[in-house]
Order: sequence, then structure tokens, then C-alpha cells
Amino acid sequence: MIIKKSIVSILTLLIIASCNATKVKQEIGLKDALKGDFLIGVAMNNKQILQNDKVGTDLIIKHFNSIVADNCMKSEVIQPAEGKFDFTLSDQFVKFGEQHKMNIIGHTLIWHSQAPDWFFKDNNGNPVSRDVLIERMKSHITTTVKHYKGRVHGWDVVNEAINDNGTWRESPFYKIIGKDYIKMAFKFAHEADPNAQLYYNDYNMEEAGRRATVVQLVKDLQQDGIRIDAVGMQSHFTMDYPTYEAFEKSIEAFAALGVKVMLTELDLTVLPFPKNEITADIATTYKYDPVMNPYINGIPDSAYLAFNNRLKTFLDICFKHKNHISRITVWGLSDKDSWKNDFPVKGRTDYPLLFDRNYQPKHIVNELIKKADKK
Ligand code: GLA
Repeated sequence: MIIKKSIVSILTLLIIASCNATKVKQEIGLKDALKGDFLIGVAMNNKQILQNDKVGTDLIIKHFNSIVADNCMKSEVIQPAEGKFDFTLSDQFVKFGEQHKMNIIGHTLIWHSQAPDWFFKDNNGNPVSRDVLIERMKSHITTTVKHYKGRVHGWDVVNEAINDNGTWRESPFYKIIGKDYIKMAFKFAHEADPNAQLYYNDYNMEEAGRRATVVQLVKDLQQDGIRIDAVGMQSHFTMDYPTYEAFEKSIEAFAALGVKVMLTELDLTVLPFPKNEITADIATTYKYDPVMNPYINGIPDSAYLAFNNRLKTFLDICFKHKNHISRITVWGLSDKDSWKNDFPVKGRTDYPLLFDRNYQPKHIVNELIKKADKK
């Protein structure tokens, strides 16, 4: 009887111990797992910023130590009319980051897209002169960066200025000012907050043409003594694009310049891209076709496995170059909130992020945490 009783208590103790171990494991977040490797960031949507997604914000606090706003710091939101700045949402975003001692990224100061119409036009609707656009650029950058001086740690100063083939994007900034607008933007940002880090950010950074031009751009800034801290590789990936080789080649090319490399908007769509030409240009749209939306009722095991494997391979490359990569940010928390559900075809069901529609971590997240737990 006594023996039986002690066996029961030993068993009970073992069960409690193993529950505690699981608890400890569950309490470790991605940010703890990746400590010493890189910062791990997430793009927050307005619902999360407004504290209307408690499950989401709790997960963000647990797993991430860097945040960026998905939309509320773009110029159309911050300065909807000339001289009328609106920091309502972005103030809440920055406050959230400060409350949780996070690295805070400002995204984005100068971008041709999601910019208000007035920015490039005069009262008659004609393109503004070079001087006026420079002045508007200066005023937008200075007011925004000064508003968050010492609070936002790094800025995506210029977003998406180069085409896949390495030519300059014919944006209003380029057409009206010429390519010097980039140097000016970085200078204005540095003057407004000399301690803030400054980044150039773009998609398809694995394209040879874009890679070469971005390398030259960074060299030009460095030669002129203009601060640039990092190159942001957006990393909106598909199951076939980019190749691992091209990804690694770009990391190496940017790192060789002495700047940091960041994955700034990582996601991996499991859906087919309608055309061969892969882009993250948000202006691209294709008509809905059911063939293009194969996983409405859930992702099949084979696709889920392929997703985890592909993401793991990209991350392994990042680990290999971790001395040069300072941050990996995913573009959204859960699959249900990803822009990929509507891009480039509206109304699809995609699975591109680290947490599923029920906020459950994907296999890759659990693996990273398990690996860290064993350290
Ligand atoms: C680009 C921009 C981001 C965001 C994504 C799509 O990559 O840099 O701000 O708009 O597109 O959501």
C-alpha cells in the first residue's frame, strides 16, 4: 500500500514537473529565442494599434521586440493636407512600443505610393516645380522626424525608388527633382534627428539590376558623407521567388558596403502568382479566378510543410550572416490580417505569416523556440 502511494506521488510529481517544463517552454517568445541573433519585428495594423485586438497585441508583446506600423505613418495619413499633420494614430503606435521597450521603426518618409495627391501638384492641378517639391519633402520629413526625435529608432527614409532592372523608378520625386532627391531626403532626416538610424527600403532586392543600383546608391551616399545605416530587403516572397542564391548574394553585396541588412517586410505567399513577373508593387492587380485561390478551406499538409521548409531555408541563410543582419520583421501577425489575401488578386485565402488565422504559431515558430530552449 505504502509502495503504491509513493509510486502515485512520484508520478504526480513527474506530471507536475513536465507541465512546468511545458509552461516554461510556452513562456519563451520568439524574441527570446532569437536574442543575440537579430531583433524580431512585426508590422502592426490599426486594430492592434488602437488596442482592439487583445489576443493580437498580447502575442506581439510576447514574441516581438521591434515594431513598425503597416500604414499609419505613411504620408497620406500623417499629412493629409498641406501643413496639416495628424499624428493621432502614430502617437499611439509609438507609445505602445515605448511601453513595451521595443525598437520602433518609422515607415516610411518618402514613397511615391500612399502619398497624398496634393504633394506633387499646385493649386491648378499641375505638377509642382522642383523647388516646391524639395521644400514639401523637407517639411514633411523634418516635421515628422522631429515629432518623434529620440523615440523612433530608425526610419525607412526612402521606399521603392529603383526598378527590377536597376533603372530609376519614374516617380514624381524622380521626375521632378532628379535622383538627388534621395540624398536630400537622407540629409533632411539626419538633420531632424541626428541619432536616428536611416534606411533605404525596397522589394525584389534579389534582382541583379536593383541590387547593383542599390549598391551604387549606398556608395554615393557614403561618399558624400550622408548617413545611411542599413538596407532594408522587404522580402515579400513566393514559393518560387526568389532563389536562395540570389537572396544570399544580395545580403552579401549590401553587407560588403559596411551597412546592416534588414529583412523589413517578410512574408511568404503559398498561393500561385498570376504571372511570371513577381512584384510587390501594390498598384498591381489581377482579376479573381477560383483557380488562383486553391486553399479556401485550409492549407493542405504538403503546402504547409513546403512553407515551413522554405522559410527555414531563408532563416538559415540569415543565421549564417547574422553578423550583418540586425533585424527581421514580418509584415503582419496573423494570416487573416495579411495584405497578401488581397494582393495581387483580391479576396484570396493566403497563409504567408508566422501565426495562423487562430493566432496559433506555425511549426517554424515552435522549432525556433525549441531550438533556443535547448541552448
Ligand atoms: C510595400 C510597402 C509596405 C506595404 C506593403 C504591402 O512593401 O513598403 O508599406 O504597403 O507594400 O502591404
